[in-house]
Amino acid sequence: MRSAKDFFTPLAVGAPAPLREIPARPSRAIHFFDPSNAKMAAKIPGMVGTVDVLLGNLEDAVKAENKEKARLGLVEIAKNTDFGPTQLWSRLNALDSPWFLDDITTLVTEIGDKLDVVMIPKVQGAEDIHYVDRLLAQLEAKVGLQRPVLVHAILETARGMANVEKIAGASPRMQGISLGPADLAADRRMKTTRVGGGHPGYLVRADATKNDAGEYDIHGDRAVFQQDLWHYTIARQVDACAMHGIYAYYGPYGDITDVVGCEDQFRNAFLLGCVGTWTLHPKQIDIARRVFSPDPAEVEHAWHVVTAMGDGTGAVMVDGKMEDDASCKQCQVVVDLAEALSE
Ligand code: GLV
Ligand code: MG
Repeated sequence: MRSAKDFFTPLAVGAPAPLREIPARPSRAIHFFDPSNAKMAAKIPGMVGTVDVLLGNLEDAVKAENKEKARLGLVEIAKNTDFGPTQLWSRLNALDSPWFLDDITTLVTEIGDKLDVVMIPKVQGAEDIHYVDRLLAQLEAKVGLQRPVLVHAILETARGMANVEKIAGASPRMQGISLGPADLAADRRMKTTRVGGGHPGYLVRADATKNDAGEYDIHGDRAVFQQDLWHYTIARQVDACAMHGIYAYYGPYGDITDVVGCEDQFRNAFLLGCVGTWTLHPKQIDIARRVFSPDPAEVEHAWHVVTAMGDGTGAVMVDGKMEDDASCKQCQVVVDLAEALSE
């Protein structure tokens, strides 16, 4: 059996990231449920196999008076459910909350054999991950778990954002990082009032053109483009995750009725390098599974390029376009993802 020491390996500056045991199974849709809500909890066994990850949420959106009920509800569900190919995750309460210690102790000792990943909210720096890493190692040793519980951090404070590279590489247990746009917006003092997605006021407008009198017609017909509020954050998050060989995820899209805006936000994240997202309602699951799977026409093109490139070096012409080592690598990413999702 592994000891705590095997899992606690703070990285020296410049040291290469160690190999990680991250689940190869896809996690395009991480579906949130509240285990303290009996109606929602009753549906969970029936959702096994329909979604990549079922996540019992213990943090925000669960009322303070229901925290214990949610924790015990999750234990009950886990003990009585065969999750088959679906992963079981839990979002624990924040490290500085009165509930975190009981959350992690109860879940690992009671259902650690079924729990794939613990999601840690409001992570501020590598020290938070080191603490969780060590605690997990102790609890695993105590109950004799053979398989390590992995850790997923939510990026939702300005300080966490400033430390994202260190967080991503803080432990071999790190599985991935999600964006928490609502908390992050509040912490950054952004002027948004929604959970994820854009804002109609965040836009660029085409330059004014001159009228017949040679004056700029600032009130004239000018194209307007709404901008992605999360582009910088997700791009930086993706780089940090790629650097340390872990997965990047978008997070919540709170407007359940706006399936079009939700799909656009998910797709932007996918194209920038994220592998999945949270789903807060069953209608977002199909969107996530579709958006975070490569387009079949792109997979076909990518196969074509990879095959034509042989050993991956040199240059070839495919459909009138020059392809070389670098485009072959991009195509390999698409092919690998298609293969991983078809397993
Ligand atoms: C999620 O937890 C968020 O804060 O957006
Ligand atoms: Mg949050």
